[in-house]
Order: sequence, then C-alpha cells, then structure tokens
Amino acid sequence: MKILQINSSARSDGSHSTRLASALTQAVMTANPAATLKVRDLARSPHPHLDEVALGALFTPAAARSPEQQARVALDDALIAEVQAADVLVVGVPMYNFGVPSQLKNWIDAISRAGVTFRYTDKGPVGLLQGKQVYFALTRGGIYRNTPNDSQVPYLRTIFGFLGMSELQFVYAEGLAMGPEAERAGLAAAQAQIADVISQ
Ligand SMILES: Cc1cc2nc3c(=O)[nH]c(=O)nc-3n(C[C@H](O)[C@H](O)[C@H](O)COP(=O)(O)O)c2cc1C
Repeated sequence: MKILQINSSARSDGSHSTRLASALTQAVMTANPAATLKVRDLARSPHPHLDEVALGALFTPAAARSPEQQARVALDDALIAEVQAADVLVVGVPMYNFGVPSQLKNWIDAISRAGVTFRYTDKGPVGLLQGKQVYFALTRGGIYRNTPNDSQVPYLRTIFGFLGMSELQFVYAEGLAMGPEAERAGLAAAQAQIADVISQ
C-alpha cells in the first residue's frame, strides 16, 4: 500500500490540519504496517500557478513544446504521477475564507488533466484516478459541518469524484478559534473520528 499525504496549510509548524492529517496517516500505517508514505507539503514546496505560461504549455502538442514548456508540464506530471501511484490519499485541509487554501486548489488544477486523470465520453465524464481511498483532515476556526456554509466538503466531493475518487472520508476539527475549551474539544473530537473512519 502506498500512502500520499498532502499538506495544504500555509503554516508548516503548528498547523492543526497537518497534525491531524499526520495522525490519520499514522492510523492507516498502524493498520497496514507495510505501507509506504510520501508527503507533499504544498507550502514548503510551492507549485507554480496555472497561469498563461502553464496553459500555453499544456495546450501545445507534446512534440511541439519548447524546452521551457516541457519543463513546466513536467512539474504537473510529477504531481499526477504521485497521485496515480498512491492507493491512499490523506489530505490536510484548513478552511480559508470559506474555501480550500489556494495551495490545494492549485494542486487540484495541476492534477486535473483531460485524457490523463479524467476523460469525456459520449456518456459524460469518466474519472481515471479510480480505486483510491481518500481521507480529509478538515480544520476550521468556526463550526460549519453539515451546514450550507461548508462549501469545502461539497467541492471536494465534486472534484475528487470527477477524477474518479469516490471513497472519501472526512474528519473534522472545528471551533479552533472559539476559545481554549472549544479548541480542546474540537481537536479531541477529531481524534475520536479517526478510529471511526479508519475502521469503515
Ligand atoms: C487566512 C485564514 C482564513 C481563515 N478563514 C476561516 C474561515 O473562513 N472559517 C473558519 O472557520 N476558519 C477560518 N480560519 C481559521 C482556520 O481554518 C484554522 O485556524 C485552521 O486551524 C487553520 O489551519 P492550520 O492550523 O492547518 O494552519 C482562517 C484562518 C486563516 C489563517
């Protein structure tokens, strides 16, 4: 089993979502001692944005790409190869301004490529990243689980499902900015959820 952990907090040290994702990863590894782990930290290793240069490279046929365009596409290829190789993904997701961090959106933009990770058929789109289990470690200052203001989970279900990943589990640490007692309770509740989602 190959595990890929994606950390998307802008913080390296002190990030609750990274800590929670690491705890989820540890639980998966405890249940699967032979599992190997690759960690991609999107803040420590920033990926270039999907700008005009990147789009130009992606939409140029491979044989006609300049060396610069080849190099730009290769950066995305490396991220795609990591996901393709993984059996399990663990994704740390802080809530930033009611959405996912731009680092995570940028990673999603990099791995979503027509003909490679999804394709359109006469019956509609087909995700090509199938057969993977995905765990999300969600951290929030407030409490939004199962409310209309939680735009993260519907978005993550849509895009991961579009790419073929439908085995999704969500662990929530909420109320982290609502005072020390709420923070302690939110983190404890998240730890308790880990055992539940791993056993499913
Ligand atoms: C830039 C920024 C925006 C945030 N926006 C929200 C928000 O919209 N809703 C919320 O509940 N918490 C919000 N928070 C709080 C974070 O979700 C919370 O502190 C979380 O633990 C941050 O993740 P991290 O500990 O992994 O860095 C925000 C924090 C930051 C730094």
